[in-house]
Amino acid sequence: MKPRHFLSPLDWSSEELVSLAQTALTYKACGRGRLLDAPDLSGQLMGLLFFNPSVRTRLSSEAAMARLGGQASALAAGTQTWQFEDREGVTMDEDTQEHVKELGPVLSQICDGIGIRKAEKMSGGSQAGQAGASWEELSKDRFLHALADNAQVPVVNLESNAFHPCQGLADMATLLELTGGKPQGKRYVLTWAWHPKALPVATPHSQLLAAADLGMRITVARPEGYGLCPEVMGAAAARCAARGGSLEESADPLGALDDAIVVCAKSWGRLDSYGLPVEQASPAADLRPDWRVDETKMARTANAHFMHCLPIRRNVIATDGVLDSERCAVVQQAGNRLWSAVSIFARLLG
Ligand code: CP
Repeated sequence: MKPRHFLSPLDWSSEELVSLAQTALTYKACGRGRLLDAPDLSGQLMGLLFFNPSVRTRLSSEAAMARLGGQASALAAGTQTWQFEDREGVTMDEDTQEHVKELGPVLSQICDGIGIRKAEKMSGGSQAGQAGASWEELSKDRFLHALADNAQVPVVNLESNAFHPCQGLADMATLLELTGGKPQGKRYVLTWAWHPKALPVATPHSQLLAAADLGMRITVARPEGYGLCPEVMGAAAARCAARGGSLEESADPLGALDDAIVVCAKSWGRLDSYGLPVEQASPAADLRPDWRVDETKMARTANAHFMHCLPIRRNVIATDGVLDSERCAVVQQAGNRLWSAVSIFARLLG
């Protein structure tokens, strides 16, 4: 039988994801003590492949396995591993040395679960000015799905081009905490923020879906041309409406904040700038003054909590005043990455 994977929030129902977030908070309540009603994963190994840098995702995954009695082993893919291939029928006489058709089954022999972070740069290669693949191409998350298709153990997406579902679950748990377990109908603003480089849409997609699955009243505030993927917006609107919430978009960075009880800031690039050279893909400098979260903006809200997935560039995405305020929830949000990982791994491996 095929294992159940955790690749996209859209593969899981709203009810399942809310249940996972609630379970995460149940585990959190156990603190450093024994995790009540958690499976014992002793003897189990989670193999982690990181193609991109990470602090929270890697450590929360390793800590989660330790809390469940198991272990995790992380490899920096590409530098500590062979170069992997996922194309069908390719003659591997260039840079790649190992095909996902061997990698998936082999990891499944050694590990009880696989975590993978693989997100391409929006502008492709490592050289400034180098062009990359289009959003249409990258959104398929080809390597992630090829690995999952060839694995006989659960695969967890630790951030791909399209989604960062572990971050989404941690945000959902945080929203449950911030609203006293009653998020439905409350106003959540996901606001775009200026950043010197174009960033991927995986995290805002997952954050949006998390608020939608909780039935919140959502506004996505972003400049013209910075709309998120239409398919994800459509799915979010449907999931939101099914749980009594709503979804709208606004290009007004200040007015969008009225009545908000949570402001979640995130920068992302234009979908039509994927694949462009770096300097063309980067957000225009004239967006910078209006699209930064500061104390004036937070004063427009209903005493909102501030969220961000981290890492955050201080005084670029949000001011010191916002980040140092008592309404700032970013550390709580990052801490919930651990409990969300515990909940996901317990569900998949337990
Ligand atoms: N938010 C997040 O995924 O953090 P890392 O990139 O440090 O893992």
